[in-house]
Amino acid sequence: MSLTRRVLVTGGAGFISSNFIRHLLWATPYEVVSIDALTYAGNLENLADVISHERLSFVHGDIRDPDLVRSLVAEVDVIVNAAAESHVEKSIAEGASEFVTTNVEGTQILLDAIRDTPVERFILISSSEVYGTALAAPMDEEHALNPRSPYAATKAGADRLAYSYFVTYGLPIVIVRPFNNYGPRQHPEKVIPRFVTQALSGEQLTIHGDGHASRDWLYVDDDAEAIEAIIEADVDDVAGEVLNVATGIDISVGEIADRVLETLGKPASLKVHVPERPGQVDRHIGSTEKARRLVGWSAHTSFDEGLARTVAWYRENETWWRALRAEPNVFSS
Ligand SMILES: NC(=O)c1ccc[n+]([C@@H]2O[C@H](COP(=O)([O-])OP(=O)(O)OC[C@H]3O[C@@H](n4cnc5c(N)ncnc54)[C@H](O)[C@@H]3O)[C@@H](O)[C@H]2O)c1
Repeated sequence: MSLTRRVLVTGGAGFISSNFIRHLLWATPYEVVSIDALTYAGNLENLADVISHERLSFVHGDIRDPDLVRSLVAEVDVIVNAAAESHVEKSIAEGASEFVTTNVEGTQILLDAIRDTPVERFILISSSEVYGTALAAPMDEEHALNPRSPYAATKAGADRLAYSYFVTYGLPIVIVRPFNNYGPRQHPEKVIPRFVTQALSGEQLTIHGDGHASRDWLYVDDDAEAIEAIIEADVDDVAGEVLNVATGIDISVGEIADRVLETLGKPASLKVHVPERPGQVDRHIGSTEKARRLVGWSAHTSFDEGLARTVAWYRENETWWRALRAEPNVFSS
């Protein structure tokens, strides 16, 4: 572990990056630089307890700004690119333009910056959504890429673009495909915080379709530990590789609603089914073998433990989520 490592984390005011930055500041001696455009999904409240930390610098800016990106990249050893338009339903309902420019072009601007100013490694946070519905279970990194929504297609574009910079230019690129993260500070547009905040408000929990669609649910702190392990692995072991970050267990959306209601002591009658949405993935379950073999990481937070911590956080931070739910662009049903 190098004392002088400087890590650029993009999208630092979002869900995964804010938890990851907090983890880096607590668990490592690294200096962290973060850039975030503060879109509707970016919230400086997510960094409130660490924003004055002596090893964190925060820049309000856009990864699509080549001059700004070049200047930041020149100062760091490692890049973790997690900034993205991240909401599947938004990509379907509002169009894909921002998803293409931020997720694909933003990644390309970062990649071109490291052609000019090499870094020790570049970690692209891709997504399990690039796989589409599981054709085999569990899904390993060789699973076909069948993105089913504009969001997923832009993630697949960035994922393969990053890989091409490894092949073409020999750059130290690692592609990480996290499965469905949940935990504190996740925007209530996403399903687990939506269910939790609906249940806390005594509202109905809307389940699209019959609720059988399943996901591999990963507690966000486990994801942070995985990314840290990828930063600390021998670069020759991970450059050019794709790594799933998963638990190897899938749980249906209907069961998630049941468990949220049970945890909060609310009646099952709060569940209501509404028509399925287009672009949905039927089943997701990730193979955990490669991450364990290459970087020695596996998830250790059980779903019950992660859900209990998540529910406790939303109970204690009602002002945070009520403000977001009051915004007109929240996809809350
Ligand atoms: N949440 C999940 O379950 C999950 C699973 C797999 C992969 N991912 C990926 O992980 C990353 C983080 O996801 P998240 O759930 O934390 O998303 P999020 O929406 O909570 O955060 C994204 C952050 O990126 C920022 N951002 C958006 N456009 C930007 C731009 N042009 N320049 C700079 N910053 C910009 C936003 O302001 C926000 O703070 C994304 O790349 C996402 O695709 C998420």
